[in-house]
Amino acid sequence: MLTVTMISLFILIGLAATKPPEDHKFTNLKVLPKDITMEQLDKVMDSFKEALGVKCSFCHAPSSDTSNHHLDFASDAKPEKEIARKMMKMTTKINHKFFSYNKNEQGEKIPAVECMTCHHGKEHPVH
Ligand code: HEC
Ligand code: HEC
Repeated sequence: MLTVTMISLFILIGLAATKPPEDHKFTNLKVLPKDITMEQLDKVMDSFKEALGVKCSFCHAPSSDTSNHHLDFASDAKPEKEIARKMMKMTTKINHKFFSYNKNEQGEKIPAVECMTCHHGKEHPVH
């Protein structure tokens, strides 16, 4: 009995240690800047949702904690998330290579091509 209690205690301590810090840093960004703010990331994710006409769960896998209906945003379990990363790189490349002259008055680059340009609210543009 004592052993079981000790083991659960260690598991609890372990879980507490792996919990993300309160200031919420994203843990699995490979394309977006690692220091992106919560607000900026929300904007990007909302634009994906709108451009493809899908919910967050189209790219994000459910949490392994089945007692809730949360998504595990850091998980790469859904292939759609990796495709989305490729699409992000492709879109940046197109803008950089062919539309680099597209700038506002402050000289900041404005992307001429975005997810919406091809997807138009559909997950699969060719259908
Ligand atoms: C079309 C696919 C797609 C959709 C839809 C989408 N996301 Fe994402 N999301 C991604 C990709 C790809 C990344 C990783 C980006 C990177 O590697 O830089 C990501 C990363 C994240 C992260 C950061 C996780 C971490 O800790 O690394 C959060 C939080 C997140 N998304 C929330 C959302 C929310 C909330 C929605 C719905 C409003 C949403 N996403 C919709 C593709 C998507
Ligand atoms: C130049 C046009 C173009 C742009 C820009 C573009 N996509 Fe795509 N996307 C496509 C095409 C075409 C397909 C279908 C590819 C196939 O049939 O295999 C696709 C497929 C996808 C898929 C897989 C959908 C599925 O049915 O499984 C995801 C996810 C995706 N795109 C996300 C994005 C995101 C996020 C962006 C913006 C960062 C983006 N795309 C920008 C053309 C584009």
